[in-house]
Amino acid sequence: MLRRLTPDQPGSFAFTDANMAWAQEQIKKYPEGRQASAVIPLLWRAQEQEGWLSKPALEAVSDMLDMQYIRVLEVATFYFMFQLKPVGSVAHIQICGTTSCMLCGSEDLIAVCKAEINEKPYLPSADGKLSWEEVECLGACTNAPMAQIGKDYYEDLTEESLRGLLKDFAAGKVPKPGPQNGRFAAEPLGGATTLKDKSGEAHNGSVALAVSLGDTVRRIDGSEVPLWKAPTPVGQQQAAPKAKTTPEKSPPKPAAEAVAGVSDADKPELLGAPMGEADDLKKIKGVGPKLEKELNGAGVFHFSQIAGWSAKEVAWADENLVSFKGRITRDEWVKQAKVLMNK
Ligand code: FES
Repeated sequence: MLRRLTPDQPGSFAFTDANMAWAQEQIKKYPEGRQASAVIPLLWRAQEQEGWLSKPALEAVSDMLDMQYIRVLEVATFYFMFQLKPVGSVAHIQICGTTSCMLCGSEDLIAVCKAEINEKPYLPSADGKLSWEEVECLGACTNAPMAQIGKDYYEDLTEESLRGLLKDFAAGKVPKPGPQNGRFAAEPLGGATTLKDKSGEAHNGSVALAVSLGDTVRRIDGSEVPLWKAPTPVGQQQAAPKAKTTPEKSPPKPAAEAVAGVSDADKPELLGAPMGEADDLKKIKGVGPKLEKELNGAGVFHFSQIAGWSAKEVAWADENLVSFKGRITRDEWVKQAKVLMNK
């Protein structure tokens, strides 16, 4: 399937402050030089915030991770979980069409989506609130046929129950996720034969959590309560632990001291301005728009400058010119620059 960005693009994208703080924390999880590994979490958060991925969102993520834009575009277009054009503003209905669900009636559910939402998948309904697509097995085959709507599963669906769900979503309600035929979880349709005692629980674990979070179709702006920081029930709060005093940071080392045997005497020649037209340093693998700006700001404009760096100058530049240490050596910039300057 050909997956392209939609021609209608917004002018800009920005993470909310809370989502930006979250994204920065994700980036810190990866070792120096491997920040690009955060591309999927960041793209996913951008989609959770906006509902889909726009070109400005991809550019923002590529800037944050210092990746070439094309690399981010490759990821976004490869994975079907990323929506490349706006979907329903309230809910995007993902109907599982794989074997178990198909045998249990998913084709009838798709017919309902075509009739009630739009004849074509991905396109929004007339009021713009809903859209749909067929997806592969979502791992809830015991409760087939089923659909993922927003973040939750709606299982044991019939044409009638799906119609009811669509009506509720369009009306701004969020119906209870989970089995829609009265089943508690994935017990036999005739009733549980073991583990019959539910100890008065109204919902199975997944549904209980979904109901308590209440964010099934909500856009994520970063202000949600993380699961690992669920609020303490009233009456059980403990006195807040004393704030730890942060040990004073030792003053930063002079940059050149950090690499053994490299001193400021090894600093390569840096220019105040390009000699004629600056080269497109982004042609060097590993250099994105942000890093190119940093290099230009430091006085590196030409392939010939980089091609002439000695091992010690590379070590100095690795330590002082780029935010992710070791990148120049790892990506063999000197070798790449030599090839590029002769093109
Ligand atoms: S076949 Fe539909 S969830 Fe597995």
